[in-house]
Amino acid sequence: MSNEIKDNILEIRKYPDPVLKKVSEEVTVFDDELSDFVKKLFASMRVHDGVGLAAPQVGVLKKIAVVEYDGKSYVLINPKVIDQKGIQESEEGCLSFPGIYANVMRPQWVKIEAQDVNGNIQVFEGEGYTARAFLHEMDHLTGKLFIDYLSNLKRNAIKKKVSKHTGGHF
Ligand code: NI
Repeated sequence: MSNEIKDNILEIRKYPDPVLKKVSEEVTVFDDELSDFVKKLFASMRVHDGVGLAAPQVGVLKKIAVVEYDGKSYVLINPKVIDQKGIQESEEGCLSFPGIYANVMRPQWVKIEAQDVNGNIQVFEGEGYTARAFLHEMDHLTGKLFIDYLSNLKRNAIKKKVSKHTGGHF
């Protein structure tokens, strides 16, 4: 990996880092620093073979996320769901929970509105896995994690597994 690429890789916060449970702030300034940060989010997502990454996962509490799936890249700044249809259940993972996967119910289709790095409003429609990725990343911006959709039993099993991985106490 070249140094130029390495400089763009941000450290991904892993559960139970408390930053993952916080609510992010709206982005109001659209400057070079923001564009640079979005580039780093994409680079950090790609190096881990992720399909999405949200700012809180790198310790930045701002409403910024990126998604890349099926050859398409999406920048989601201050994103909002404006319409949704149907329901799907499928396995989901998260770069903040390495090696952990669980079935999560999500709408089958969503229409979202988000700003790009220049502050322009974009509308995206996503179906299936793309809808899932949009919603998973948007949840990160309000401190919601995919394990929050699971039963207490399943969530506790995951918490135990995570604490073993990270060497936490009990
Ligand atoms: Ni995630």
